[in-house]
Amino acid sequence: MKLPYAEPYKIKVVEPLYRSTQTEREQWIKEAHYNLFNLKSSQVFIDCLTDSGTGAMSDRQWAEMMVGDESYAGSRSFDKLKETVRRITGYEYFLPTHQGRAAENVLFSVLVKEGDIVPGNSHFDTTKGHIEFRKASAVDCTIDEAFDTAVYHPFKGNVDLEKLEKVFKKYPKEKIPFIVVTVTCNTAGGQPVSMENIKATSALCKQYGIPLYFDAARFAENAYFIKKREEAYADKTIKEIALEMFSYGDGMTMSAKKDGLVNMGGFIALNSHDIFKKASVFNIMFEGFITYGGMNGRDMGALAVGLDEATEFDYLESRVEQVAYLGQRLEYFKVPVQHPYGGHAIFIDANKFVPTIPKEEFRAWSLAMELYITSGIRGVEIGTILADRDPITRKNRFPELELVRLAIPRRTYTNHHMDYIAVALKNIFDTRTEAKHGYRIIEEAPIMRHFTVKMEKI
Ligand code: F0G
Repeated sequence: MKLPYAEPYKIKVVEPLYRSTQTEREQWIKEAHYNLFNLKSSQVFIDCLTDSGTGAMSDRQWAEMMVGDESYAGSRSFDKLKETVRRITGYEYFLPTHQGRAAENVLFSVLVKEGDIVPGNSHFDTTKGHIEFRKASAVDCTIDEAFDTAVYHPFKGNVDLEKLEKVFKKYPKEKIPFIVVTVTCNTAGGQPVSMENIKATSALCKQYGIPLYFDAARFAENAYFIKKREEAYADKTIKEIALEMFSYGDGMTMSAKKDGLVNMGGFIALNSHDIFKKASVFNIMFEGFITYGGMNGRDMGALAVGLDEATEFDYLESRVEQVAYLGQRLEYFKVPVQHPYGGHAIFIDANKFVPTIPKEEFRAWSLAMELYITSGIRGVEIGTILADRDPITRKNRFPELELVRLAIPRRTYTNHHMDYIAVALKNIFDTRTEAKHGYRIIEEAPIMRHFTVKMEKI
């Protein structure tokens, strides 16, 4: 008999979880004005709000914390991290930052100016935010398949080359400072970008003289998908694949809270000495001196080790396949989820799950509420509340997809937790036709309302 799969690690430290009752949760969520961001973590049993900075470090990472060098300038831990980043990405120059959006802030301060156009494959919110804050525009050039949860495409994060070329033809070169390729594409559901597509995108960029930068938060998961789904890469190591991916770009911003396997941190890596020099000035201004940039020495050490661990096949297999395990369990119960499964999260299609709730009453939000109340699981709405109001008409924008994202922290939960999540959703699914009403807004911020919105049950 073939031996079943088992994780390539054992657990050395555990954190107890409180198993609350439904009566407690009903009270807590009411006090939180029906917003999952307002809950205390102690009120959550399984926390799938995000996979960002919520994973478990290894004993080697913790050991590295003890030898961290906290010198203001010229820290040993910086050198170690810089060497690791160069080896894994191939980029010559490196600046640490306190997290991913800080890397965007520093790099875009050099590259983006008013009126610019920055194409990409469904830019992440903070990326878009840092572009729009500078009065520039982010143009989405993701392939259409990404927006249909039922369609199978192995690389739903791919850039649509026709859409991209249209942008290149429409605007003068000076207006397009770079394009950003997000690997994996979070906004499209943690979907990977193929090497073939990265290569072709890079070639098109070169033809038009436009630089290509990666938003590399989940680059290792992307490399894993390339190895599994692109035949030519089946025998390559993850590190070889990552190095080739990065070779098609001019640089990257990184949220190390994802595939850096740390709780806080980020960086910029790039090839241009000129841009590095300019970015260094902003780094010192916003983040800190260029050999720590908002990170502790010990955290830079842990990140160096984390980058090496995250680019090992065995780790990635346990990571990505655990997410897929949850997806398979949900599908077994007929719960509508996005296809194929994302690398870091499962996305539940609330339009298909609870069509009986009027869309004006926030289907995905309602489903996320029900999931928390009945089981203590915290997901996050990726739907109408997140989409905000139209800035001109002030009407709610109803996006094509109403999703509940269940992001899985790295090396943190067991498959029993995945089973628990799956059954919790199955139970809601079995009674879904009884759901007739959702929620209404009682208080909201003018922008980025989802973090603080107050709601009430209808
Ligand atoms: N880029 C991508 C693709 C991301 O997913 C994130 C964060 C960032 C950039 C920003 O990095 O948080 O370190 O400043 N995503 C988190 C999430 C918040 O929950 O998906 P950061």
